[in-house]
Amino acid sequence: MFRNTRARWGALSQLLHWLIVALIAVQASLGLIGAGLPLGMEKLAMLARHKSIGITILALAVIRLLWRWLNPTPDLPGTLRGYERLLARFTHAALYVLLFALPLTGWIMSSARGFPVSWFDVLQLPDLVSKSGALYRAMIETHAALAIALGVIVALHVAAALKHHFVLKDDTLRRMLPGRASRARPAGQTPGTSTRKPC
Ligand code: HEM
Ligand code: HEM
Repeated sequence: MFRNTRARWGALSQLLHWLIVALIAVQASLGLIGAGLPLGMEKLAMLARHKSIGITILALAVIRLLWRWLNPTPDLPGTLRGYERLLARFTHAALYVLLFALPLTGWIMSSARGFPVSWFDVLQLPDLVSKSGALYRAMIETHAALAIALGVIVALHVAAALKHHFVLKDDTLRRMLPGRASRARPAGQTPGTSTRKPC
């Protein structure tokens, strides 16, 4: 199914989720390697690729949020306790914020340094701010701090997805994967019908 339903993510949401995951993996590697290189052609080429992929992630994040807004959102698993529900919502919101904040701080950083940003040499993007050494230094720190925050939140997010799949044995992960969600305990099950033992 192309569109989301209240029970599972549709094909487009799944595609966007996993495409962004793959691009973030490439992106973090290019950023870390690029930042560590001495100033020269190799560093500039590495960072040019990093910037183009970052802009791609920004565009995909916009499409993803628009698509989310136009579609139903699958219910959170009914077995979640109140604080787990809050934590899941907070984690998802934080991931969305970072999908925007990282590219934008990177773009501002490049503009403040006086390096124009292009998308794979095909599209020249406008400078977001004028040249400023102080802003450049602030953005470089912010960008690196946001990248660490993304790493921490993704680790939490992945741990939660794996817990749902292997410990709680519900459909949370399956409904973000192609194919049918077929576990005995659906992810959107209501608390009253939960088979989870009370602690
Ligand atoms: C989701 C998107 C992005 C992620 C996850 C990301 C991640 C990173 C990481 C991990 C670093 C290394 C930080 C360090 O160790 O100092 C980095 C550096 C950098 N990023 Fe990004 N980035 C993203 C988007 C962008 C965009 C869109 C641009 C520019 C248009 C950009 C420009 C840069 C630059 C210029 C550096 C090198 C900073 C330096 O010279 O130390 N980034 N990024
Ligand atoms: C860079 C890495 C990742 C990012 C940025 C990311 C981002 C997100 C976001 C923003 C959502 C919320 C979707 C929404 O409510 O619209 C989501 C959902 C989800 N993610 Fe990720 N994700 C990442 C990696 C992973 C990985 C590695 C896994 C699996 C091990 C995973 C499994 C899931 C699942 C199962 C959902 C659906 C949760 C639900 O239905 O309540 N994600 N992801």
